[in-house]
Amino acid sequence: MTYAAGRHFLQIPGPTNVPDSVLRAMSAATIDHRGPDFQALGTELLRDVRPVFGTTGPVVMYPATGTGAWEAALVNTLNPGETVLCFETGHFATLWQEMAGRLGLRVDLVPGDWRHGADPAVVAERLAADTGRRIAAVCVVHNETSTGVTSRVAEIRAAMDAADHPALLLVDTISSLGSMDYRHDEWGVDVTVAGSQKGLMLPPGMSFNAISAKALERSRTATMPRTFWDWGPMLAANERGFFPYTPNTNLMYGLKEALRLLHDEGLENVFARHTRHAEATRAAVRAWGLEVLALDEREFSSALTAVLVPDDVDADKVRAVILDRFDMSLGAGLGRLAGRIFRIGHLGAFNDLTLAGTLAGVQMGLGLAGVPVAGSGLDAALERLQTD
Ligand SMILES: Cc1ncc(COP(=O)(O)O)c(C=O)c1O
Repeated sequence: MTYAAGRHFLQIPGPTNVPDSVLRAMSAATIDHRGPDFQALGTELLRDVRPVFGTTGPVVMYPATGTGAWEAALVNTLNPGETVLCFETGHFATLWQEMAGRLGLRVDLVPGDWRHGADPAVVAERLAADTGRRIAAVCVVHNETSTGVTSRVAEIRAAMDAADHPALLLVDTISSLGSMDYRHDEWGVDVTVAGSQKGLMLPPGMSFNAISAKALERSRTATMPRTFWDWGPMLAANERGFFPYTPNTNLMYGLKEALRLLHDEGLENVFARHTRHAEATRAAVRAWGLEVLALDEREFSSALTAVLVPDDVDADKVRAVILDRFDMSLGAGLGRLAGRIFRIGHLGAFNDLTLAGTLAGVQMGLGLAGVPVAGSGLDAALERLQTD
């Protein structure tokens, strides 16, 4: 007997499930990226993507994954040898600060336990101690996809303002944009880094920088070497809806449809939907008697939940059982969390029954893997879903 027919359950925290209408939009014929039809598309997207970032300023789009947009944020705004203040909130924050080091920046790294976000009080302390104004940028991962912990960006900005420090604020929203409340302008973020494959419900391969006036000003004198990532030629071409090199046209068709879906639902509703699914997921985890990795409820992610398994359980074995038996992919523990957690993605094109199916698969998988659970997480989640 076989168990798996029908659709694969892709419940990793990105890439997420791509809606059928987005897939269909991307299947249109590729057009001349220097012609009038493309110009109309480019002009529309460069305008309509801004509200998702909470900005009225420029957003550039790269035919590259999120890692590229990380690099773009650094090389466009900084000078070789300058210091960046980074927080070890998890695997992706670690990779970003390593990149900064390899690019020739000095990294002032605040260690972390991978269960908390960047602490605004520590930002305040570090900036107050920086009397020589060596720190040129503060780098924060808004939603640490490896841990399911969110950093409080508005509070970090307030700490920077209170210290009256001129550092730029660079924020990675790769797994929060389009899923969780985010406000580039209002929160005073200088560069927001994002990717296509999570809340935007697109395949991987496109990434973004939203740019503040201050960051743009800095980019005019910043001397880090850059060619592909250079905002200058990009923004100049974008003025007319074009790109300085070949853009990923078909992903842009998809983006147009994804933005339509997000704007039709309303961003507030999108965020509320994610919050509710995250609450139901945490209710399930608690009912199973397992632990949510995030420790501070102000920092719970609405995009994913990382579940800590008991010491004598290998989380990768649980995931393997679930993949084999129920054809569902869950996120692996990354870096120092390998084997210790599994991650449930509940972002993007996702509804109550997707969540119910996901949690049913987890619950059955825990049983098949021999992990003792205290009660029915699925029932706890369904109860939460029925309250509003
Ligand atoms: C928070 C975060 N930052 C950076 C990245 C790296 O992005 P990419 O894999 O698109 O290059 C990811 C990927 O999952 C991520 O979740």
